[in-house]
Amino acid sequence: MSDTRDALIAAARDAATRAYAPYSGFHVGAALLLKNGDVVTGANVENASYGLTLCAETAAIAKIANEGWIGELTEVAIIGGRPEGDALLGTDPVNPCGRCRQVLNEAAERSKTDILVHCASGDGKTVASYRLSDLLPAAFGPKDLGLID
Ligand code: THU
Repeated sequence: MSDTRDALIAAARDAATRAYAPYSGFHVGAALLLKNGDVVTGANVENASYGLTLCAETAAIAKIANEGWIGELTEVAIIGGRPEGDALLGTDPVNPCGRCRQVLNEAAERSKTDILVHCASGDGKTVASYRLSDLLPAAFGPKDLGLID
C-alpha cells in the first residue's frame, strides 16, 4: 500500500472513462509514472476489425515514446472493468496481456528499471503488484539486439 500506487490507480481509473470499447464493453485504463513524477495515461481503443484493438498499456506507451520519454518509466498501474454509471465493476485485478508485457518491457529496458506493475480490479478493492521481470521472465528486448548494456 502506498500513496504513489493509489494515485496511479486513480489516474488509470480516470483514463478508463475515456476508453473506446464499444465491442467488448470492457474499459481499461493505464497510468505510467515517469522518473520526473509526471503521469501519462492511456485507455483501450477498439476497432470494428476486432484484432486491431489497442490495449490501454500500449496506447500509453505509444504516448511516452512519441514524446521521447520511453527511457523514463518507473511504475505502472492498470485497471479495468465494465462501466456502470460512474463506477467500474469487476472484482478481479486486470493483468496486462502478453503483448502489453512485451511493449512494457521495451520501455523498462530503456529505463534500466525493473518496473512495478500494479494490477487493480474495477472496483478498486483488489490490487496485485508485480515486478515486470516476474510477469515476463527472460524477456527479449533491446539488450538482445545490442542496443543497450
Ligand atoms: N485490454 C487492455 O486494454 N489491456 C490488457 O492488458 C488486456 C485487455 C483490453 C483490450 C480490449 O479492448 C478489452 O480489454 C477486452 O479484451
